[in-house]
Amino acid sequence: MKLLLGHCIGFDDQDQLTDTARGGLLIDQGVIQAMGDGAELVRRYPQAQVVDHGSSYLMPGFVDAHVHYPQLPVIASHGEQLLEWLERYTFPEESKYGDLDYACAQAEQFLDLTLAYGTTSAAVFSTVHATSAEALFQAAGRRNLRLATGKVLMDRHCPESLRDDPVSGYQESERLIRSFHGQGRLEYAITPRFAPTSSAEQLAACAALWDAYPDVLLQTHLSENADEIRWVSELFPASPDYLGVYEQFDLVRTRALFGHAIHLSAREADSLRERGGVLVHCPTSNLFLGSGLFEFQAHARAGQRLALASDVGGGSALSMWSTMLGAYQVSAMLGQALDAQQLLYAATLGGARSLGWDCVGNLAVGYEADILVIDPHATALTSQRIGHSTSLEEALFALIVLADDRHVSDVYVAGQRVSD
Ligand code: GUN
Ligand code: ZN
Repeated sequence: MKLLLGHCIGFDDQDQLTDTARGGLLIDQGVIQAMGDGAELVRRYPQAQVVDHGSSYLMPGFVDAHVHYPQLPVIASHGEQLLEWLERYTFPEESKYGDLDYACAQAEQFLDLTLAYGTTSAAVFSTVHATSAEALFQAAGRRNLRLATGKVLMDRHCPESLRDDPVSGYQESERLIRSFHGQGRLEYAITPRFAPTSSAEQLAACAALWDAYPDVLLQTHLSENADEIRWVSELFPASPDYLGVYEQFDLVRTRALFGHAIHLSAREADSLRERGGVLVHCPTSNLFLGSGLFEFQAHARAGQRLALASDVGGGSALSMWSTMLGAYQVSAMLGQALDAQQLLYAATLGGARSLGWDCVGNLAVGYEADILVIDPHATALTSQRIGHSTSLEEALFALIVLADDRHVSDVYVAGQRVSD
């Protein structure tokens, strides 16, 4: 039993920010068992091991709802938009992940880095190779992370070395589901890359697999780039629009995660809302690849299920701080300035709920103890800025704009300190 002391930040029943200076979190069996005034909890639980984080903030760990671990080596690649970027940078790197040793080394490095930035949960794309998903599951399992991944399904319009077929894709996915889904905190995500790289047979196989295992996630890409959208309309001429392809194969359900979803028609947006699909905002990627401006505020007001994501390697940062800043900058371009509450909610509790993970994303009794210790004084720049702030919201917004991995001084995963 552990009692963490610090400045506790979470969300109340109305999803508004709450804070308790000199607060405490009692953790047992990886779950928050009590929270409140720190001194009071110290008195009430004399047997607990006290870890005093002083005036640092204790916050829920970040949820990255769409990221490609095999693309870490191609983050920050110059000069292309989506389809050319895939051909020139992404596919050559992804071709290496049939080698289990390479995949394992990359998975370890990816998780070390994401944890250093404070991401404790993620929905992650692997590559077409089952070994790549296996490597990430093993590495995430060793760290006891709540994480979903899946082998990419891709049977056309890609290099031969990255191609599966509808039958092998189904069988390998099913084998991975049976081996890893529900093991500890791991979950499986059926992962058709996007409509252009899957045949009709493969998309139909995805639906059959999801029918057989209805409690897994599904993740894919939707309506990111103008050339991509045109290509989808040529490949699926009978479909009214891009989403219509996924609808036709019954892939638009709750817990279907659609990365990007920038250029939606009113029909597509209405259908996504009615069916409970999740729109995953990938702001740094959408800026970096020149894809477009996602209307987060409008979608939030319309009641869409939303999440926030780095989309590395299209995204230019692993950090969810930078991702929130990207979301703010995109909203500013649209004249809609998202605030600290909206940004932090999307990066934690809101994203977690959209993924169906009701057990993470908040500091409250009953939640799994994935906790960040944030030192606002880690750099001179943030320290002086926080010193001039007059409210918690102002201080948190300054961190969203200015913080990086130096501000994440400790991370707890299910109550265990990662550095231990
Ligand atoms: N669409 C299909 N594959 C990808 C990918 O790997 N990254 C991004 N940003 N979009 C995609
Ligand atoms: Zn992506």
